[in-house]
This record gives sequence, C-alpha cells and structure tokens, in this order.
Amino acid sequence: MNQIVASPMGSLSNLSVVSFESRLAGAMADLISRQGGTPISAPAVREIPLAKNPEALEFARELLAGRIDLVVLLTGVGIRALLAAIEGTYPRAEFLAALSRIPTIVRGLKPQAVLRELGVPITLAVPDPNTWREILSAIDDAAIPLQGRRVAVQEYGRSNPELVAGLMARGASVMQVSVYRWALPEDCGPLRRAIKTIIEREVDLVLFTTAVQVNHLLQVAAEEGMEESLRAGLRDTVVASIGPTCSRALREHGLVVDLEPEHPKMGYLVLTAARHAHVLRRIKRARAMQGAPRLPAPCEVRQAGEVREDRGVALLQESPFLKACRLEPTPYTPIWIMRQAGRYMQEYREIRGKLSFLELCRRPDLAAEAAVTAALRLGVDAAIIFGDILVVVQPMGVGLEFTKGDGPVIHNPVRSGADLKRLQPVDVQESLSFAFEAVRLARAALPPTIPLIGFAGAPFTLASYLIEGRGSRQYQHTKALMYRDPGAWHALMERLSDVVSGYLNGQIAAGAQVVQLFDSWVGCLSPDDYCEFVLPHTKRVITALTPGVPVIHFGTDTATLLPLMRDAGGNVIGLDWRVDLGEAWSRLGQGVGVQGNLDPMVLLAEPDEIRRQAGRILERAAKRPGHIFNLGHGVLPQTPVDHLRVLIDYVHEATAR
Ligand code: CP3
Repeated sequence: MNQIVASPMGSLSNLSVVSFESRLAGAMADLISRQGGTPISAPAVREIPLAKNPEALEFARELLAGRIDLVVLLTGVGIRALLAAIEGTYPRAEFLAALSRIPTIVRGLKPQAVLRELGVPITLAVPDPNTWREILSAIDDAAIPLQGRRVAVQEYGRSNPELVAGLMARGASVMQVSVYRWALPEDCGPLRRAIKTIIEREVDLVLFTTAVQVNHLLQVAAEEGMEESLRAGLRDTVVASIGPTCSRALREHGLVVDLEPEHPKMGYLVLTAARHAHVLRRIKRARAMQGAPRLPAPCEVRQAGEVREDRGVALLQESPFLKACRLEPTPYTPIWIMRQAGRYMQEYREIRGKLSFLELCRRPDLAAEAAVTAALRLGVDAAIIFGDILVVVQPMGVGLEFTKGDGPVIHNPVRSGADLKRLQPVDVQESLSFAFEAVRLARAALPPTIPLIGFAGAPFTLASYLIEGRGSRQYQHTKALMYRDPGAWHALMERLSDVVSGYLNGQIAAGAQVVQLFDSWVGCLSPDDYCEFVLPHTKRVITALTPGVPVIHFGTDTATLLPLMRDAGGNVIGLDWRVDLGEAWSRLGQGVGVQGNLDPMVLLAEPDEIRRQAGRILERAAKRPGHIFNLGHGVLPQTPVDHLRVLIDYVHEATAR
C-alpha cells in the first residue's frame, strides 16, 4: 500500500513483464520498455515454415488448374511463406496470375500490403479487429456467393475451425492451406528461467500473444515438474491475454485471465496492461498475503468495464446480491456495508494520508483500489465504487471543499433563483469521466462473483447541500427556497435529476451492476412535501436509468415516507434503524426488497450484542427473498474492523440455507 501513490497510473514502471513472443520479441520488448516496464523475453514458440509443404503445393496445383474459386488469406507472413514454398516447383508469375483471377479476401493491413506488393488485386479487405466473425460477416455483406464454391484458406499456424465451419455452413468446400507449424524454441533456457521467476513471484505481469505459447509454457513447466507451482505463481501475477482464443487456452489450463485488450493487437495489449496492471497487481498480491481468500471463487477479471464471457455474466447475475435485488431466493442473506471503504479501515487511512479526499475521489486507480480492497477485506457480497455524492456538484462551480471535521462545505451556496442561474452546466461524460474510469477499473479487478454498486445522491439530498452549503439539522434554507420560490426549486431539482441520471447511467455503462440512490436527508420532509417537491424528480431519475439494472433507493428518517419512496421507484428500499424491518416491509408491499437496517452504533458493542441485534433483524426479515443486510446508515469511523467481520460472518452463517 505504501507505494501506491508513487506508482503512476497508465504505465508499467517498476514492473517486470514477461512476454512469450518469439518472432516479435524485440518489438514487444520495445513496447514494454516504452511504458517504463522491464521486459523479460521468454520465447515459447518456434515457427517452422514447412520446407516441403505438401498443402502449399497442392493448393498451387489446384489454383493453376482453375479448381479454386476463392481464397482467404489470413496473414502477411503466411502469404510470403506460401510463395516461398511453391516457388521451387511452380513459376511464381503463373501462380500470381492465377491468384489474380479469383476473388481474394484478406484480413487486416499486413496481408493487404503483401498482396499489393505482389500486384494481386484485393477483392475484399476485412477491417479490424478482423477475427473470423468479421471475415464471415464481410463476405455476407458483400454478398459473395459461396454455395458450391471451393474456398482455400491460407492459415497461420493453428487452423481456424470457426472460420472453416462458417464457410462450410455457407455451402463452400474448404481447402485448408497451412504454411507454418509450431515447435518449442531450440533454446528453452529463457523460458525455463521465466517459469522460475514467476514461481518466485518476481514477475508482475505476463503477456500471452498466442494460444500456442500457453500450451508450450505449461508443457515445459510440466517437463520440469513445476506445473503446479507455475499455476500458483500465475495466480499471484497479472495475466494478460491478447484475445479470446488465447484466453480460452489459458482457461482450458485452469488459469485466470486478468486482462484482455479491446483489439487483439500487441500495442493494445501493452497499453491495456499499462493502464490496469498496477492496480491489479496490488490487489492480487494483497490477497496472496492474506492467505486463503475469504471469497468463494477465484479471482477472474476481464477487460475493464466489460464482462464479455457468458460465464462471467452468469456468475454475476447468479450472485446472492443480485438475486436478492430481483427478489429471488438466495443460499444465504447477502450483506454489504454502507461506507465500507472509509476511515474505520487502515488501508483507507493509508491512501488518504497521501492525498485529500477530493483528490482521492478523482484518482480512478486509487478509488477502484479503495472499493475493491474494502469489499475483499470484509468478505461482503457487493462492492460499492468509491467516491462521493457531492462530486457531481463540483463542476457546477459552487466551490466544494471537504474540510477536516466539518465534512463538505459549499462556498457559494444556491439560495435564490438568481444563484441558480450562476450554476455551470455539467457535461457528465466529460467532467465525471474519472468516476466512470474508476468503475471500469474496479469491475476489472473484482472477482466475477462480486457485483459492483454505482451510486449517486438523490436530487433532494444534493439540493440540500447546494442550498445549505453544508450538512444541516433543520434544512431551513432548503425549505425556504422550496416554499418561497417553487419555480426555482423545481428548476434546480430538474437540473440535478438530469445530472444524476446521466451520472448513474455512465456508471452502469462502465460496469456497475446495481445502483444506489442516496436520499440521505429526505426524512426531514412531510409526506405531502415529499410528494410535491421530491417524488416527481426522483421518479424521473429512476425512470431514466438503464432498464434491467436494479436500483436501491435509500434514505434515513423515512418511516413516514416509505410507501412514497417506493412509488418514486427502486427495486429495493433502504431502511434506517429507526423502523422495524418486518413492519416496514409489510407497508412497502410484496413487490420490493429491503436493505438494512442495523444501527451503525451497535457495531461499537461487543460481538455477542452485535450478533443478538443482527439476529433480531434477520428474524424480522423471516427469510423472505429480497432482504439485503446492511446498516441503517454509513459505518462510523470509530468502528473496529473485527466487529464488522463478526457481523458479516454471523449474517452469512445464520442464514445459510
Ligand atoms: O460506501 C462507500 O464505501 C462508498 C463511498 C461513499 C462515501 N460517501 C465516501 C466518503 C459514499 C457512498 C458516500 C455517500 C455520501 N457522501 C452520502 C450519502 C450516504 C450517507 O452517509 O448519508 C453523503 C451525505 C455524503 C456527503 C459526505 N461525504 C459527508 C457528509 C462527508 C463527511 C462526513 C463523513 O462521513 O466523513 C463526506 C466525506 C466522505 N465520503 C468520506 C468518505 C470515506 C470521509 C472523507 C475523509 O476521508 O475524510
């Protein structure tokens, strides 16, 4: 934790990076060095152009005889090797002329360049990221007939079964022309040394660029009797894979893929790794140091903000927390803690020691780390992104500051319609991009079993800060504006609603599975005032959210407002400790879940009392599907971490069904 602030985001500085590239080992080492990393080159594969290549010769014979109708060329090096393989047997010019007579489909820039150089016309160039999917859809889009045609596919090393199957499904007969095959490098020394350094935890990041590298690495480790220790070493190392085929090979070997770039290219791979490796490494190492993980599933993360694999999505959707949000039965009652990343936690205080609260909120890597560390340390069922409800008002130009002791202060509060006109418009995407980046990073670092909660302040609670300028007991300025100038009030609430829904949708797009709307201070209003001045705005926010993403709607002191809050929206209503959970849930009705509601103060008591009070709440919930355990408000800074653990373990154990 100590070097966290020193480790710059978006670089590989201070990281040892192993790459298994062979032919492009030099280029890869350059890319790594340019990002500040220390490259370790461990070539895992030798490419052998087939000296006597029967497939290439047969292809040339068939092509020259006019029996090939179309050719798909997958790589530039492959085309050159093909040419080299046939040259001794067939005249080059005749071969190229025959190739020019049939449609050619090439993928990516390199084969295009080679064909141009050879003077062979290109019929269809498939754009990036040019995997087999794009090749097939480009053929479909160009309406190239395949029925009854003979198609040759120049492959590169491994065959591409999906492409071949896709061509055959369109009625083609396929001739596979492979011009390369793979072997272990002649000198496996560097590979063996790399295996040892991974086992000794001296490597921070490994980069795989082909599936063959994965197979060879494990083969060599097995020959050395080190397969299991290599696997263990890789669990504590950040593993980056260039794309889906390579990732599949890793998973087939039981290895975890931490990162995959958006496009399967070396440059993207290194850049993606540079963006995320520091955070992922710290989290993986911290977990390794804590010994046995408190989490049921191993860490498996994906490209930031994106869970592309169905399995990942399924794991998340089947998590007890998301099931509870959907009112489905769960194997135990899920629990998380409001303000779980906060001052009560040593790790948080260490990060905070180095920067101000607002600076921390605006540092995506540290915000993600705070969120993930808190969730993993506690063993809760959901992570909440780190941030603050007030970050959305900062770009309005009101002079937000977090002062020691006093909490948030707004230097230019909004007290009138005229003040309202001063508020700067907020471009959510631009001015809050740090928060979306934090969500992406946290999502990438979390195990696929742990949902990530995005959050925002509800319009009323945000308005109350904007108007009062600080926390308040009476909300006198807020109510004064509301009653004296309802026009200005509604205009302010509308502006806030737009920002809040944009902010929440941005977090959802970046990878949050659930959102919580904090209307912490709304309990100061009468039900009539809530209906008139708040409900329509909160409702507008919730209606504008991405469909299918559960919403938790939370407030305190809301005993009299609960049915109205339900009407405003939310799949789960957050309860504070002043209400009886069972009674409150009955008043809310069947259609919503509840979250809560232990008095945060109880955590200052002894473990037995914590269990007794938590047990009482569980009795009130009576195992009805849709209960998420939480405190009735945020955890207090003086709370011992061990007491939180007592609570979390108790809730899990007492409700295991
Ligand atoms: O739950 C989490 O772990 C996520 C992080 C989070 C924070 N604030 C971090 C924070 C969340 C969800 C919030 C929400 C928030 N912020 C609310 C609504 C929830 C609630 O408690 O009612 C409100 C009203 C705020 C505004 C706010 N931010 C106040 C009043 C304060 C000062 C009081 C306090 O609790 O310290 C903050 C500061 C703040 N927000 C801190 C943290 C960790 C402490 C700042 C520090 O490190 O000094």
